[in-house]
Amino acid sequence: MIEVEQLEKTYSTGRMATPVLKGISFRINEGEYVAIMGTSGTGKSTLMNILGCLDKPTTGRYLLDDTDVGSLDDDALSHLRNKKIGFVFQQFHLLERSTAMRNVTLPLIYVDEYPEDVEKMAEKALAAVGLTDRRQYRPNELSGGQQQRVAIARALITDPEIILADEPTGALDRKSGLEVMSIFKKLHQQGHTIILVTHDQAVAEHAQRIIVLKDGQITEDRLIKKQRDPDLELGNGEEKR
Ligand SMILES: Nc1ncnc2c1ncn2[C@@H]1O[C@H](COP(=O)(O)OP(=O)(O)O)[C@@H](O)[C@H]1O
Ligand SMILES: [Mg+2]
Repeated sequence: MIEVEQLEKTYSTGRMATPVLKGISFRINEGEYVAIMGTSGTGKSTLMNILGCLDKPTTGRYLLDDTDVGSLDDDALSHLRNKKIGFVFQQFHLLERSTAMRNVTLPLIYVDEYPEDVEKMAEKALAAVGLTDRRQYRPNELSGGQQQRVAIARALITDPEIILADEPTGALDRKSGLEVMSIFKKLHQQGHTIILVTHDQAVAEHAQRIIVLKDGQITEDRLIKKQRDPDLELGNGEEKR
């Protein structure tokens, strides 16, 4: 489903060139749940933006369902992105003045044909994250965890095969973080491919596979042996338990 080969990304600003990704190769199959882990500044978000067709690599190849993403123009790229990928970010990026319902329907603006049953779709997406009773609430009337669940519902409304989440628990307390991780677990069980970026080992352990990034290169790519229920475990960076 996803295949990257010798991806490199260098940011060029004026005379300065910052090499960030230095030859990344891996495959991710349909239905996998993968965590991309690494400390701050190692290029996780850069890689995520490329996988999400928000940015292109400087060199290297990215095949998404056998489409060579590098060969697409901007229109084709956003079309592919809107069809296949749902995004969840650390900062929820919700419209502050809009209700949960309205926020959730936003990605539908970009689909080819605006569906007739938008309300029903939004209700279904909000139900999937357990927020049916908060449909008419605005972001400032919701907790951080609830806001992130609205953001997940927004990612789900186009029924994307792939969900990309960049530090989705990074702004949440432990309990809300666990709720969010249990939603990803459910989505994975329903067949979505999930790629989760985190600096937090305990969060990464919720996945089936961990790819470790260090200084723009992969230093580890391993499957996780599940010996215990990961729902019981989630650190949030600094907190010691
Ligand atoms: N648009 C940009 N222009 C220049 N440098 C950038 C840009 N975006 C990220 N970087 C640099 O790339 C490196 C990796 O950033 P990022 O991918 O955000 O890392 P991570 O998500 O792992 O914390 C950092 O050193 C950052 O300063
Ligand atoms: Mg980042």
